Amino acid sequence: MSDSPRLPGLDGATPLEELRAFAEACTACALYEHATQTVFGEGPPDASLMLMGEQPGDQEDRQGHPFVGPAGGVLDRALDQAAIDRGSVYLTNAVKHFKWEPRGKVRLHKKPNVSEMAACRQWWEAELEAVRPKVLGCLGATAAQAVFGADFRVTKQRGQWFELPSGVAAIATIHPSAVLRAEDELRDEFFDGLVRDLALMATRLD
Ligand code: URA
Repeated sequence: MSDSPRLPGLDGATPLEELRAFAEACTACALYEHATQTVFGEGPPDASLMLMGEQPGDQEDRQGHPFVGPAGGVLDRALDQAAIDRGSVYLTNAVKHFKWEPRGKVRLHKKPNVSEMAACRQWWEAELEAVRPKVLGCLGATAAQAVFGADFRVTKQRGQWFELPSGVAAIATIHPSAVLRAEDELRDEFFDGLVRDLALMATRLD
């Protein structure tokens, strides 16, 4: 499934806690240099739903947990409306370090590039192999393109089911940050789309 090199000692049977410990010391790309810490995935090791975002944001980088900042707030509301318990979901990101540039006092989010995404691929692939969820939900373009390829367009293909070679059912939806960034008149529509796709994922979990 991957053409990126694996770190020595990593294979499909590596347990999550070992993966997390390996990832804490990851220097496979330069992003670790300016990030506070690796933000690894979290959730039940046997979760049937895995959701994957882009990368930790400012708050996630400081606190060390995925989706605990403003985008996490949107995700929590959307999960709630889709009747999915956040505690039952394994939440992770395509890239495990926060990429940012200074803008005055603010650390401004920067999109990870192709080589940073490739360097991090081994981590989410190993998480996927360890957790073996029924459904992988990609939140936004970065996660979707990491999983489905660079040509994937969330605007056109969100809400469609795909089967990964491992048999996992995968689907992409709108990133919670896109809801936050949306113009006022589009925000509800984006949020409702996210809820609808999450509810669709829930239908495959029973
Ligand atoms: N955005 C993401 O993609 N992931 C997070 O963990 C937080 C914000």
